[in-house]
Amino acid sequence: MHRLAVFGNPVAHSRSPEIHQMFAAEAGIDVTYEKVLVPLGEFRLVAEAFFRQGGTGINITVPFKQDAFNFVDVLSGGAQDAGAVNTIVRLPNGLLKGENTDGAGLVSDLQKNLGWILAGKSILLLGAGGAVQGVIRDILNAEPKNIVIANRTAAKAVKLVDGFADKRITANPLSELLGPFDVIISGSSAGLAENAGPLSLPLSLLESHTCCYDMIYGKATPFRSWSSALPSAQCADGLGMLVEQAARAFELWFDVEIDGGSVLERLRKSI
Ligand code: ATR
Repeated sequence: MHRLAVFGNPVAHSRSPEIHQMFAAEAGIDVTYEKVLVPLGEFRLVAEAFFRQGGTGINITVPFKQDAFNFVDVLSGGAQDAGAVNTIVRLPNGLLKGENTDGAGLVSDLQKNLGWILAGKSILLLGAGGAVQGVIRDILNAEPKNIVIANRTAAKAVKLVDGFADKRITANPLSELLGPFDVIISGSSAGLAENAGPLSLPLSLLESHTCCYDMIYGKATPFRSWSSALPSAQCADGLGMLVEQAARAFELWFDVEIDGGSVLERLRKSI
């Protein structure tokens, strides 16, 4: 029996246990998967105890992705680019490796589940926090024409772009955006955090073929309502990203291939 867990605070709402149990059933692997409410400031203590007691791996959610980044013995290239760790894998030599599967999960959902094309396309990323930083490398790997990162606080977008040193990415203040774009992905917490406020975007960013993706799921957000004039096949929430980032984590732990799409369908029906 393999012991897995998600560490977060809060964590009660997490769908990770049911998602990973579906993967485990599909792969024929016995796992237990707990939700662990980690007290703030105690990530290291709780994680050390988990692995000392033989744990196989953990997922990390808000607000511990940075703590996990600082905790692990080694980092994958993806985790380094993301500046955050959402999955910890115990290597055969006992070392703990930090990975980040958020970007791969997003790109799987966009390309495989939704059938949206990124290659050669012009992409707008809204926000410049951890959610956006975590997906840039994987979006670049999908060969877009260009990526514009637009953030309310322009300096944060500039800093992110500087960190990637890739001519295809530029930063833009949210207030000076010029569209249209083929794909718009929101990693903004507007409407989510209590102090986040409304999000104001010009409709000129949209064309009739533009696809809009909100990394948030299960909540009405200003971004979702702004994009709701588009056909529903061109709008999506982040539930598929949640499932696909989990699929990539499960693959790292057990070296199996997971079909996130079928689990996503079942999860959507159950919500
Ligand atoms: P996370 O780590 O989940 O990305 P975060 O670091 O708090 O969370 O980032 C939230 C993002 O949403 C930021 O880019 C934030 O913009 P600022 O950097 O200007 O704060 C963005 N955001 C939140 N509320 C917003 C609003 N009302 N309008 C525009 N952007 C907003």
